[in-house]
Amino acid sequence: MRTLSGVQSSGRLHIGNYYGAMRQFVQLQDQGEAYYFIANYHALTTVRDPKLALELTRDAALTYLSLGLDPKKAVLFRQSDVKEVVELYWILGTVVPQSNLERAHSYKDKVAQGISPDFGLFAYPVLMAADILLYSADAVPVGKDQIQHIEFARDWAVKFNTQYVPGYDPADPEGKERGHAPGILKLPAAHLQESAATVPGIDGRKMSKSYGNTLELFGEEKDIKKRIMSIKTDSTPVEAPKPTQDAPLYDLLKLMLPASEFADVDATWKAGGKGYGDYKKKLLEAFHTTFGPARQRHAELLADPGEVERILQDGAQRARAEATRLMDQVRRAVGIP
Ligand code: TRP
Repeated sequence: MRTLSGVQSSGRLHIGNYYGAMRQFVQLQDQGEAYYFIANYHALTTVRDPKLALELTRDAALTYLSLGLDPKKAVLFRQSDVKEVVELYWILGTVVPQSNLERAHSYKDKVAQGISPDFGLFAYPVLMAADILLYSADAVPVGKDQIQHIEFARDWAVKFNTQYVPGYDPADPEGKERGHAPGILKLPAAHLQESAATVPGIDGRKMSKSYGNTLELFGEEKDIKKRIMSIKTDSTPVEAPKPTQDAPLYDLLKLMLPASEFADVDATWKAGGKGYGDYKKKLLEAFHTTFGPARQRHAELLADPGEVERILQDGAQRARAEATRLMDQVRRAVGIP
C-alpha cells in the first residue's frame, strides 16, 4: 500500500498543522510505503514573493524532518523537482469537465471570501489530482476539507482510463476479470484523518495562519512565550472553578500534556484555586517539553542546508523514477511522442 500526502508551503507551520495533520503523516511512515511532498507549485497560488516562496519550501522540508520523518523510510521531495507533474496536469486537464471545477468547494469558498480568482486557483484541483495519480498512490490521508479533491482525482482517473485504455471497464478498474484491462491511472482512496484534532488558536478561534492566532512550531522562544501569555481567558477569579467551554487554554493544555499530567490539571481547573497565569506557565513548559527535541533538530538542520538539499535530491530521484514510468504509459496512450 502506498500513501501520499502533501503540504502546501504557503506559511510557517504551527501546532495546528501538527496536531491536525502532520503528526498523523509522520506516523504513516511505518505503515507501508509513504511519499511526502511539499506542494510548492500550489503555494504559488498565494505566495507571490520569490524569496519567501523559497524560504517556505525549505522550511516545510525542515519541519517534516524535525518532526521525525525518516528519509530512509519515506520518500520526501519537492513537488517542483519532478516536472512530469506539470505534464500530467495538462494532459489530465483535457478530460476534466469544467463544471467539476466550478463546483469545487475550495474555489467557491475563496470566491465567496471576495478573492478574485485566477486560473491557478481554478485549476488547483487538477494539479492536485496529478500529484496523486503520478505516483499511483493507493491512499491519501486528508482532512475533511480535502475529500472532494480526492473524489475528483478518482473521477478523472476513470475518465482518462475509459477514454484511453482499450478494454478498460470502470466497474473493474484493476482489470481483475478476463478481457478487462487495468487502468493506467490508479484510483486513490481518501483516508479521513479521524484522529486529527481541531486546534484552537490563542484567541479561541480555529488556529489558522490567516487569523494570526497561531503558535508556530519553530517560532522564537520570546514570541511563543508572549503568545501563550496572551491566550484569551475570562475573568473567573483565582479561587473559583474555571469553565471548560470556550476555553482555548484548557483545550491546548489537554492537547499538549501527557494524559496523566492533564488529569491533575483538569482536577485543579474544575476545583479552582489556581489562576490562569499559572496554567499559561504550565502550557509554556508543555510546549517546550513536547517540541523541544524537534526545535533542537530544526536548529541543527537550519545550520546544515547541504544535508537538507541532499535529502530532497535523493527523494526527488526516487519519486522521479515512479513518475517517469507512469508518464511513459500516459504519453503512449494519448499519442505524445
Ligand atoms: N491541497 C492540499 C492542502 O492544502 C495540499 C496538497 C497539494 C495535497 N497536493 C496534494 C495533499 C496531494 C494531498 C495530496 O492541504
